[in-house]
Amino acid sequence: MHARLGDDLARLPGLLDEARAHAVRLLTGLDDRPVALTTGPPAPEPLPVTGIGAAGALEAFARRWEPGFAASAGPRYLGFVTGGATPASLAGDWLTGALDQNPTSGIDSSAPDLERETVAWLRELFGLPREHAGAFVSGATMSNFTGLAVAREWVGERRGVRVSEQGAAALGPVPVLSASPHSSVGKALSMLGLGRSALRRVDALPGREAVDPARLEEALESLGGEPAIVVANAGTVNTVDFDDLRAIAALRERYPFWLHVDAAFGAFALLSPDHAHLLDGLGEADSVCVDLHKWLNVPYDSAVQFTRRRDLQVRVFANSAAYLGPLGDDLDRVDLVHLTPENSRRLRALPAWFTLAAYGREGHAEIVRRDIALAGLLGERVAALPGYRLLAPVRLNVVCFTPEGSPERTGELVSAIIESGEAFLTPTVYGGVPALRAAFSNWRTTEADVERVVKVLERLAP
Ligand SMILES: Cc1ncc(COP(=O)(O)O)c(C=O)c1O
Repeated sequence: MHARLGDDLARLPGLLDEARAHAVRLLTGLDDRPVALTTGPPAPEPLPVTGIGAAGALEAFARRWEPGFAASAGPRYLGFVTGGATPASLAGDWLTGALDQNPTSGIDSSAPDLERETVAWLRELFGLPREHAGAFVSGATMSNFTGLAVAREWVGERRGVRVSEQGAAALGPVPVLSASPHSSVGKALSMLGLGRSALRRVDALPGREAVDPARLEEALESLGGEPAIVVANAGTVNTVDFDDLRAIAALRERYPFWLHVDAAFGAFALLSPDHAHLLDGLGEADSVCVDLHKWLNVPYDSAVQFTRRRDLQVRVFANSAAYLGPLGDDLDRVDLVHLTPENSRRLRALPAWFTLAAYGREGHAEIVRRDIALAGLLGERVAALPGYRLLAPVRLNVVCFTPEGSPERTGELVSAIIESGEAFLTPTVYGGVPALRAAFSNWRTTEADVERVVKVLERLAP
């Protein structure tokens, strides 16, 4: 064994203690750390030849790289839609690395069964019917990709083409209808060979991002009975608007389409009694995307995909080889290798299992309700601040607003907020207006954090 490896093996418990102590220092210092940084990378260093051992690597990381890392696990990182990591999920994540399971096949371990149990818990959390089978993927982009891959196979079934065998070219153009899809849908269509231009934008309701069901019906009608894919949005990224899922699902009585719902973070609205109705009809979807590194607050990377057509899913993702064993007939117990793009992967379910076991539905509902209330509070405070204007009502957990005056101020404001070290918000454009978004999905955020953000905005007001 290489000398450094041998040394590290001999002092493994001590090394892990040092890493643990380091992580604890980082986490307890989150509040004092600049929330975001633009320091850039350290000077490059060549590939080590003999290596410096794990303790040396920890020291080098802390010296060279850590100072430039954002406090994205902390309470005032409100950019994109970013969750933190609950204590239990972090513990689960550490054990994921320690156990180093590859859950794709079940012949040697019950790890895939832990994933199945976690998916079943999530299905229950999101009120999906038993027919929805699911698996873990790395994020909502891969969840959308997987759902749309199954949708593509379904369109093939309707047209008498086995896309998984014959390829997307044999299928021809597929209309994909949506009002305000997340950018990852275009990326997924590109990867699926359907092409970004397959996406046909349907008008939203006036002043909204939610699809106008009447316009959607017109678009479906114009297809003359051709099967299509509808991507419904349950939580748009700018204003967290929700399509009327029931009204969309009802259109399937008259038009043939696959209903994919991107509920990347919006699905968590089900945990708030005042907002659960926004997801009415979710169970009727053919495929559903939910991100977990957002509002479940598990470490990156983690998401789940659900579909009621696992038979088609297995057709798309089957990875048969003698050394992997037979596919089997029981779709509920099919090896995970046959369900998603990846073959080998980490046991992503374990951190999610830990946090669900530790805090349950109630604990996670409290996080969601608190984040919604905090977004509402920031919305009220911003609306009352001179120099700012809300661009949309705060429907759930995102505040979308703009500085009054010149729109160019938005970029400067984002930089000035980063500079302050107090918070991180990301820029966007909504309704043609450059804007800022503050997205609340971290389990640590409190009212005091909102007040700190308000103070910064007040100080930087145009
Ligand atoms: C609605 C929606 N869909 C998809 C995604 C893509 O998620 P990920 O970056 O985890 O792939 C996001 C990310 O913000 C999102 O908000």
